[in-house]
Amino acid sequence: MRYSRAVAVLAAGANASLTDVCTKSNVQSALPANGTLLGISLIPSAVTAGTVYNASTGGGMMSSSSDGETYNYCNVTVTYTHTGKGDKVVVKYAFPEPADYKNRFYVAGGGGFSLSSDATGGLPYGAAGGATDAGYDAFSNSYDDVVLYGNGSINWDATYMFAYQALGEMTQIGKHLSKGFYGSDKLYTYYEGCSDGGREGMSQVQRWGEEYDGVIAGAPAFRFAQQQVHHVYSSAVEKTLDYYPPPCELKKIVNATIAACDPLDGRTDGVVSRTDLCMLNFNLTSIIGAPYSCAAETSTSLGFGFSQRKRQAAGSSTSYQPAQNGTVSAQGVAVAQAIYDGLHNSQGDRAYLSWQIASELSDATTEYNSDTGKWELSIPSTGGEYVTKFVQLLDLDNLSDLNNVTYDTLVDWMNTGFIRYLDSLQTTLPDLTPFQQAGGKLLHYHGESDPSIPAASSVHYWQAVRSAMYPDSSDEEALAALQDWYQFYLVPGAAHCGSNSLQPGPYPQNNMDVMIDWVENGVRPSRLNATVSSGDYAGETQMLCQWPKRPLWRGNSSFACVDDEKSIDSWTYEFNAFKMPVY
Ligand SMILES: *[C@@H]1O[C@H](CO)[C@@H](O)[C@H](O)[C@H]1NC(C)=O
Ligand SMILES: *[C@@H]1O[C@H](CO)[C@@H](O)[C@H](O)[C@H]1NC(C)=O
Ligand SMILES: *[C@@H]1O[C@H](CO)[C@@H](O)[C@H](O)[C@H]1NC(C)=O
Ligand SMILES: *[C@@H]1O[C@H](CO)[C@@H](O)[C@H](O)[C@H]1NC(C)=O
Ligand SMILES: *[C@@H]1O[C@H](CO)[C@@H](O)[C@H](O)[C@H]1NC(C)=O
Ligand SMILES: *[C@@H]1O[C@H](CO)[C@@H](O)[C@H](O)[C@H]1NC(C)=O
Ligand SMILES: *[C@@H]1O[C@H](CO)[C@@H](O)[C@H](O)[C@H]1NC(C)=O
Ligand SMILES: *[C@@H]1O[C@H](CO)[C@@H](O)[C@H](O)[C@H]1NC(C)=O
Ligand SMILES: *[C@@H]1O[C@H](CO)[C@@H](O)[C@H](O)[C@H]1NC(C)=O
Ligand SMILES: *[C@@H]1O[C@H](CO)[C@@H](O)[C@H](O)[C@H]1NC(C)=O
Ligand SMILES: *[C@@H]1O[C@H](CO)[C@@H](O)[C@H](O)[C@H]1NC(C)=O
Repeated sequence: MRYSRAVAVLAAGANASLTDVCTKSNVQSALPANGTLLGISLIPSAVTAGTVYNASTGGGMMSSSSDGETYNYCNVTVTYTHTGKGDKVVVKYAFPEPADYKNRFYVAGGGGFSLSSDATGGLPYGAAGGATDAGYDAFSNSYDDVVLYGNGSINWDATYMFAYQALGEMTQIGKHLSKGFYGSDKLYTYYEGCSDGGREGMSQVQRWGEEYDGVIAGAPAFRFAQQQVHHVYSSAVEKTLDYYPPPCELKKIVNATIAACDPLDGRTDGVVSRTDLCMLNFNLTSIIGAPYSCAAETSTSLGFGFSQRKRQAAGSSTSYQPAQNGTVSAQGVAVAQAIYDGLHNSQGDRAYLSWQIASELSDATTEYNSDTGKWELSIPSTGGEYVTKFVQLLDLDNLSDLNNVTYDTLVDWMNTGFIRYLDSLQTTLPDLTPFQQAGGKLLHYHGESDPSIPAASSVHYWQAVRSAMYPDSSDEEALAALQDWYQFYLVPGAAHCGSNSLQPGPYPQNNMDVMIDWVENGVRPSRLNATVSSGDYAGETQMLCQWPKRPLWRGNSSFACVDDEKSIDSWTYEFNAFKMPVY
């Protein structure tokens, strides 16, 4: 073993070719010996290694690393067992050519109930990368397909692996391997993901903080129980108010809100850059009576981000919508207002926050019944499946109805999921001391008009971290300290992990460049580079304001980042419906 380790180091010298280093024995000799990584026993005989030429890289889902170039890499698979347990976890790695390697390791996040299955996302950055099957064959299974062994019986191994453990272990092994593979101890470790990939990133910051130098987390699907049950809330509002709006009516309400609130940020560009000003100054009832009209359409529903890939493809159901004409009703506005207000229990205590006003109301989309000619409840399976599988523990893909379901029922569901998965899926530990003390940098962003995961969910976590880590500091002191290692940005107008077809606003395109500069060159960002890709201002660069500062346009070509206490208050929530603190 010692001898071949020496060979590995030698082979990886600056001029080594990919074929020189990409051998089973080189990988075997770079494996951490049993006992090196506590609880992880590697199985050298199961190693595979093979060169791949001219591969294109997809990057991780929703990461920004896909660039259309092709790469050569060493395709490695490694198998380990948890010491004494007899299980089997397969991890795969992609090692760039020695000449391309820049002493980096890159982890991409997944989405929905999937971890990333692609190890190649780091190649554009000269980074090795990895992906894990998490011990439940995650390369072909989605976690929600294996979370129950059967009714009432939770697969906790899969749950903890999906929640945070599998990625942490994959990264630990991958870092060790990278050092051995290239014979260099210098290594920067990055994570990048959005949606559940954002949650996964936060899980790593919270649980494996010392392992990462730079983490980019977009629109994290954390506070998992509240977040998932919130996907049922729109349907519960419709059921409670007994009004099932034609989709066109809600679209009109959203469009009219965007039109009315767009100028409040100082520039009329189709983007509500200040949803807080919209919330404070615009009254939805002013839309009542506005005419709407939508042509008939046969649409294929693709879900909207937080739904699992497989079912999305299989279940991409085709639905028919007749032409819809009418005027916005008081009931339609009441539904929209209740949704934007967020869930409260019957005592009036707040249980959760909601999407910012001017966000699309995707979860509220009703279904047309061509037999009755009426619009009916359609429960989004993102929320419905969470309730059936994770709360009720029944192996069903969706709730069948909301009979007898009140707002209090939703709070109960949230509370059950909150407590049951508090130390696995919830992913809101606010004490990030190990990450911060190890010098980690966290770049957190969220589309302000995200219709799937509320932007305020990210604000609440930022506030929770600030309070947990700087309890005795003034706001200014805490902010100054945080900016050194944890920066949060709202992306005006943006939707879920991408730009918004209804608001042609900016979106960050080069987060990894920004992060690499921060980690490796000490260039701390103070604004976040984002580019407008459509509309009148296509091509414009906007340096986004770092939270808690908010943009205010001064004319059509520049904006200031302002302090606005009233605005911050509108983003600040307490969840008194729960007895436990909700971070
Ligand atoms: C490490 O432990 C595993 C599981 O017991 C075993 O299969 C493997 O051979 C061990 N590796 C070495 C290098 O001894
Ligand atoms: C990869 O692409 C290059 C340039 O197109 C080509 O010269 C080379 O033969 C390709 N290699 C393989 C193994 O296909
Ligand atoms: C990587 O190696 C594994 C194991 O041999 C193999 O199944 C997979 O197809 C390879 N991937 C590529 C892109 O060649
Ligand atoms: C809402 O606005 C979008 C364009 O931004 C348009 O395509 C759509 O037809 C509008 N819908 C309604 C109901 O007004
Ligand atoms: C919006 O306007 C309606 C009707 O004038 C009024 O009843 C309601 O209180 C207003 N809402 C807010 C938040 O001001
Ligand atoms: C809806 O209105 C459009 C024009 O506004 C009209 O062409 C269409 O026939 C109307 N459809 C129905 C079902 O009334
Ligand atoms: C279950 O979920 C699917 C996909 O989101 C949806 O089309 C269907 O209407 C839902 N079922 C019910 C009973 O609402
Ligand atoms: C699990 O429970 C659901 C709901 O009660 C039922 O429809 C299903 O048949 C049960 N599955 C099994 C395997 O018993
Ligand atoms: C709703 O609740 C009532 C009273 O608790 C009960 O009698 C009824 O069967 C329930 N209906 C459904 C559909 O569960
Ligand atoms: C902003 O991002 C764009 C797109 O990636 C890039 O072309 C531009 O150079 C970046 N600007 C700054 C100031 O970083
Ligand atoms: C800003 O642009 C709008 C058109 O989008 C124009 O009407 C307005 O005059 C411009 N304002 C200034 C100060 O240039």
